Amino acid sequence: LIAAGEALLKRASVLVDEAMRARLDDRLWPGAPSRLMDAMRYSLFAGGKRFRPALVIGGCEAAGGNAEAALPAACAVEMIHTYSLIHDDLPAMDNDDLRRGRSTLHRAFDEATAILAGDTLLTIAFDALADCGNLDMVRELARAAGPTGMAGGQVLDIEAENSPPDLNGLIRLHRMKTGALIRVSVRMGALAGGASPETLTALTRYGEALGLAFQITDDILDVTGDPEKMGKAAGRDAARQKTTYPSLLGLEESRRRAEQSARDAVDALAGLNGDAADALRSLAWYVVRRDA
Ligand code: IPE
Ligand code: IPE
Ligand code: MG
Ligand code: MG
Ligand code: MG
Repeated sequence: LIAAGEALLKRASVLVDEAMRARLDDRLWPGAPSRLMDAMRYSLFAGGKRFRPALVIGGCEAAGGNAEAALPAACAVEMIHTYSLIHDDLPAMDNDDLRRGRSTLHRAFDEATAILAGDTLLTIAFDALADCGNLDMVRELARAAGPTGMAGGQVLDIEAENSPPDLNGLIRLHRMKTGALIRVSVRMGALAGGASPETLTALTRYGEALGLAFQITDDILDVTGDPEKMGKAAGRDAARQKTTYPSLLGLEESRRRAEQSARDAVDALAGLNGDAADALRSLAWYVVRRDA
């Protein structure tokens, strides 16, 4: 069931790693402080799943495009995602020591460098995206990362530590902090692949359902996951009294809702045929079955 999705992840990893290595080559940034470049590389090449690049590439292929056209957007979203993790782990936020199987950036380097490496990844993400030559994609990514997307969602997440939201509030927060970048990944892929309006709508619905499934599963793994496999600590949400799906609904109901969201994602693609759409369907099941 999940094999095609895992194959897409693997292929996306190879493509995006090579492209990001090239983009972070010191020769492209003459005079840049090597400590800053090293810090960005430390977090980028620590072994993330490359889930969002897989969605960009898969979305592009499902729309009939080829992976090459999607690569700048795939790099851009992975850079923004990595910046969001670096800042998420800072003492002022979730205060975590382990990420992607190694010390968090602020522990391995220092806080100022971690803040600035995050800022710089956000900035060069748009340098990468400019290669697409598509202003709609630039605007969509900015909005997904901004006040109504990831950054806004992270603010709600921090506020929620002091005033716990109800389920609707939590859904809204999850859609913003995690869902927006996942949704825009699929949409940028679709745009790069020249999707028809109908295909774009279907892929968007897929991305929205998938984003929720992804964060519900992240919440579940924080309770049940193996830190060795995840490359990050478990039990952190409870320790910080975060409101999560398991804290509001329990594990069993959380699992049921993650599965339902994965099913919604698969259903959204009902009108799409071919191997690329199959890979996206498979990736939806991967999201709720994963252990990392
Ligand atoms: C973790 O994202 C943070 C969330 C938005 C839930 P991932 O689980 O995709 O982390 P990496 O990229 O594989 O490290
Ligand atoms: C992070 O959510 C969402 C981001 C925008 C980075 P979490 O705080 O739950 O992510 P992990 O569990 O630390 O990876
Ligand atoms: Mg967090
Ligand atoms: Mg966190
Ligand atoms: Mg989490």
